[in-house]
Amino acid sequence: MRAFASVGVVALSALSLFAGAACEKRTTDGNTPTPPAPVDKPAPGQPVDVAAAAPADAILLGEVGSLTGSEATFGQSTANGIQMAVDEMNAKGGVKLADGTQKKLAVRVYDDQGKPEEAANAVTRLINQDKVKVILGEVASSNSLAMAPKAQAAQIPMITPSSTNPKVTEVGEYISRVCFIDPFQGFVMAKFADETLKAKKVAILKDNKSDYSLGLSQFFVEEFKKRGGEIVAEEAYSKGDTDFRGQLTSIKGKKPEAIYVPGYYNDVGVIARQARELGIKAPLLGGDGWESEKLYELGGAAIEGSYYTNHYSAEDPNPRIQEFISKYKAKFGGAMPDSLGALGYDAAMVAIVAMERAKDLSGPALKDEINKTKDHPGIAGTITLNDKRDAVKPAVVLQVKGGKSVYVATVSP
Ligand code: PHE
Repeated sequence: MRAFASVGVVALSALSLFAGAACEKRTTDGNTPTPPAPVDKPAPGQPVDVAAAAPADAILLGEVGSLTGSEATFGQSTANGIQMAVDEMNAKGGVKLADGTQKKLAVRVYDDQGKPEEAANAVTRLINQDKVKVILGEVASSNSLAMAPKAQAAQIPMITPSSTNPKVTEVGEYISRVCFIDPFQGFVMAKFADETLKAKKVAILKDNKSDYSLGLSQFFVEEFKKRGGEIVAEEAYSKGDTDFRGQLTSIKGKKPEAIYVPGYYNDVGVIARQARELGIKAPLLGGDGWESEKLYELGGAAIEGSYYTNHYSAEDPNPRIQEFISKYKAKFGGAMPDSLGALGYDAAMVAIVAMERAKDLSGPALKDEINKTKDHPGIAGTITLNDKRDAVKPAVVLQVKGGKSVYVATVSP
């Protein structure tokens, strides 16, 4: 069970009533499209302030995420990771700035319900009303693409922890990310399908409404074909669809050895079940969008044996990772951090150490330091930003086994 907001969420303003309810009740419901009880959820446009007892002169970080809606675990895990970084820093007394002062940090989070329009509104509020120094988010590339032009125009640095579509950082020099990009992620799965699974015929089932899904399927297809593989079918759906049987039936007729489904967990779980109901035995292959505790619940036995690419594996014995996992579990009621928890933490830490190096906290000065990030010891890999402000680092391949994701391989760029 996910324990988002169970510890340490303190409303600094008039929102204490909401935050109190959230502390007790807000748990993951990524498969429930309509939020049931409004009091349990942040209404759009209503921020939540995070950071235990941050003083009034704290440096404010902005965060935009899907705390509710069909991708709720994305926003919740990211928020946990960010909160952990900020609380850790505050426990040490705060950030040490160039002017010799030391300041605590606070985070203002807006829930965008997984919608690009809401993400764009939230970023406007963070910039104009809240006057944040940096913006962290979003997870989904389509949401980050709705936010990035606003951050760029206002000269406020935006770091996406986990949006992998190349277009996100192409918006401009104020936009960076602490994860790899989809040309690499698509390459990794195409290589795995070819060399490890020895698949020659693969079908694609992509989400036509998602920049992430469209991009990732394109990069996979290019690499798989380059290797002599054949794409026997290319079918599409739209986020929120519930019936994928038509597309799956036509895919079945083409007898693929694997089906690449670069979507988000909530759709993938249903797709897996319907594929098995139709008698399709081929493994499903996917990308980081599968990463959620909810995948195992939604997909059940149907998702077992399938593979996806990801940013980190919780089984990695690296002490830096294992220490992060124990701290996260202790802080969030035993919840295992998924890659979004790790990347949220990494994005916040990259912003924080850049603040310590920056000559001041103006947007231009801060973005210069963020963009110089080199060999930063992240949880989901060591972070060095290239000249396009993308992190260059390995990906892992995981397999769903026994209701969890098991490490299979690491592929370096
Ligand atoms: N990479 C996905 C996107 O760009 C988001 C994501 C990252 C989802 C990591 C899950 C885990 O849309």
